[in-house]
Amino acid sequence: MSDRHAAIEALGHLDLRFSPSERVRGAARVTDYDAWYASWRSDPDAFWAAAASELDWFEPWCAVSEIELPDHRWFVGGRTNLSHNCFERNIDRGLGDKTCLVAECEQGPTRTFSYAEALGEVSRIAGGLAELGVGRGDRVVLYMPLGPEGIFTMQACARLGAVHSVVYAGMGPSALAQRISDCEAVCVVAADLTYRRGKTVALKPIVDQALASVDCVRHVVVHRRDPATVLADGQLDFADLVAGRPDHRPAEHMDAEDPAFILYTSGTTGRPKGVVHVHGGYMVGVHLLMKNYFDTGADDVWWSTSDIGWIVGHSYICYGPMLVGATQVIREGAPDYPDAGVVWRLVERHRVTNLFSAPTAVRMFMRAGEDALAGRDLSSLRVFYCAGEPFNPEAWQWAQQHLCRDGGQVVDNYWQTEIASPMLGTFPAMDARPGFAGKPMPGVELEVVDEHGEALSPGEGGLLVMKRPLPYMMRTVFGDRERYESVWSERLGGYVTGDIAVRDDEGYWAVLGRSDDVLNVAGHRIGTADVESSLIEHDAVVEAAAIGLPDELKGERIKVFVTVAATAVEGDELVAALKRHVRETLGPIAQPSEVSFVASLPKTRSGKIMRRLLRARELGLDEGDTSTLED
Ligand code: PRX
Repeated sequence: MSDRHAAIEALGHLDLRFSPSERVRGAARVTDYDAWYASWRSDPDAFWAAAASELDWFEPWCAVSEIELPDHRWFVGGRTNLSHNCFERNIDRGLGDKTCLVAECEQGPTRTFSYAEALGEVSRIAGGLAELGVGRGDRVVLYMPLGPEGIFTMQACARLGAVHSVVYAGMGPSALAQRISDCEAVCVVAADLTYRRGKTVALKPIVDQALASVDCVRHVVVHRRDPATVLADGQLDFADLVAGRPDHRPAEHMDAEDPAFILYTSGTTGRPKGVVHVHGGYMVGVHLLMKNYFDTGADDVWWSTSDIGWIVGHSYICYGPMLVGATQVIREGAPDYPDAGVVWRLVERHRVTNLFSAPTAVRMFMRAGEDALAGRDLSSLRVFYCAGEPFNPEAWQWAQQHLCRDGGQVVDNYWQTEIASPMLGTFPAMDARPGFAGKPMPGVELEVVDEHGEALSPGEGGLLVMKRPLPYMMRTVFGDRERYESVWSERLGGYVTGDIAVRDDEGYWAVLGRSDDVLNVAGHRIGTADVESSLIEHDAVVEAAAIGLPDELKGERIKVFVTVAATAVEGDELVAALKRHVRETLGPIAQPSEVSFVASLPKTRSGKIMRRLLRARELGLDEGDTSTLED
């Protein structure tokens, strides 16, 4: 039996159910999920038009949707701007003096910005970028830690109609260079360093190394946190970029379908996949779900422990909280530094009401133990959301018992970089079923199918397919139309998520893992192809195969199998060198935890590496169909 089958069987036997408290239900905006979903189904365009009408538009749309798959356009002809809706719209409704952002950092003081002050910061950056000649459609790559400057620079790009592409400031120089050149960025905005676990982590050398191999970049702006940082010739100081600029720069009127950002994610090829999201539909989806699913409004204090380098950090750090006028807490640094109690001290200090994190973090909190929570007042916490990877029921129950001990509720939600907001989720007012992500959001129509596209019944695991497009999903893959088209399959009946899922008789859905060659390590998406291409770049390696193995803390860890050149010496030294190589090129999150030397890799007759077989052997599972195995 495969491990997926075992997981599905286990879910079938598991009948855990938690009803939300009166407090959670009383505060929830959606109390009748079925009615809400039905209101979309009875008239989808009217549903989306109502959702969009809650936001500001410079020009109204003439059609809510125009769908000709794989293309789909929403709010056609409408003009708006994501950043305008985050600031001017809220300031116009009296929230100018309200706290927008509370920025914590491992090292350094807490910084607070009201909505009016934040708009000033965003406007000054936009003014500076505009003076450099950055405008509509230009790509700007950010390599910055989670902090006000990163968020405000993203907002400034959106305000100008420029397209930001944030590269997680933990990725290595080759990953950064690949992304800069793929989107042909004209400008890079970077920070010189970040803080993690009491140490200073230098970012600028990585940027300089990446820039040495690209030729599209015309401007490099560096946010200097250390006054001793020396700028190279032609590099501009962030402080000089913004100095003396007006504190209001009105937002460009963007077409609803104009791109707002590109976010690279891992797919099944070594080339990063530049997912493109737009101003209109993206904004409508994020706003709708921030309010009605994440149950967050102007009276709430929101904290997401993600980073601006990921989709959660785009939708639910940079844009979502500000679209609804919430107060947001962010923190730069490790969640267990200086000690395991730091998250809970900040929840208490800032009276955080809605906290968004990941199952990996919960498992880390579990491991740290309950002492870290002792004496902390966590009564402000109403809903604790997790996403990014399968949420194991044990961790779920621990979070419910210890983090939501004052009548809060733990809820799971499922989505991906391509679909910039939840597709499935347990609503706060809904009974939660640990092990299951929840039920579909309005607009989401899913099916579990076999490899021929035949619909499967409840209890049967298969490929998860979405039958229609959503306003808040990607419009294309930057510069790679073919790759975009390949995610829509007529045979399978819609958008292919790349995930394996199962649903039960009551309409709860569980997502068990990927069906393709993508790994999920501590909630981070890593392509086996990325790790393999990095290894092959190393002189000693001839061939490489990467697989994911179950890991108690990280969900999955990476094991690689390599065949090496005749001249290479197999041994601990080479293992260490290969791990270091992946770390230095792709970044620490992609570093394999195990390296194994093999004489050859199992391949199909057409030469495809059979990772499935390596994994089955490693876990002592049924090897399945090996008839296509060459040797
Ligand atoms: O495999 C699914 C897993 O994470 C993938 C998407 O990762 P990323 O693009 O980084 O976006 C994360 C957005 C939260 C999915 O294809 N995944 C995400 N959420 C869940 C999940 N797997 C199981 N349960 C979830 N709740």
